[in-house]
Amino acid sequence: MTEFLLSLHVLAAIIAVGPVTVAASMFPPAARRAMGPDGDGAGAGAVGTVRLLHRICRVYAGVGVAVPVLGFATASAMGVLGDGWLVTSVALTAAAAGVLVAFVLPRQDELLAQLADHRPVERAGTARLAMFTGLFNLLWATVTVLMIVRPGSTTGA
Ligand code: HEM
Repeated sequence: MTEFLLSLHVLAAIIAVGPVTVAASMFPPAARRAMGPDGDGAGAGAVGTVRLLHRICRVYAGVGVAVPVLGFATASAMGVLGDGWLVTSVALTAAAAGVLVAFVLPRQDELLAQLADHRPVERAGTARLAMFTGLFNLLWATVTVLMIVRPGSTTGA
């Protein structure tokens, strides 16, 4: 049962967090391209790309809820819920989710609305979004390393 839950947990992480990472990382440069050379828009196709990237981020962020749910199920099946590495991972996962939901997704939403309405977009806006996206990626990558190294764990390799 533990192996089954762990497999689902890792699958969910690959399927959900992978696309969010790629799409969120592609979003700021795509938004800059959609601004056009004069900042007044580069056409509907470029905005369509930005919209698709935002949609991937939003939908797969929702699917990503399965990662901590299956993570908790795996942890309780293994009896490691109180372990330091796990508690740290839970906190970092919560921080990553918080950055995504509170900063990355709303900022993408805002930029997309500005581009769709042909309103001027500040370059600093895409740079700030890129910074939060980088922070999100760093947080969940740290969790992945913690999940594999499990410092202080005595339950396996
Ligand atoms: C609330 C959050 C989470 C909990 C409670 C949790 C729990 C767990 C547990 C108990 C294991 C088994 C470790 C072992 O084999 O001893 C595991 C493995 C793993 N988790 Fe998580 N996890 C969480 C979030 C994440 C996130 C955000 C990612 C990546 C995006 C992730 C990726 C992995 C991977 C790749 C493994 C396999 C490591 C291995 O067995 O070598 N987990 N997780």
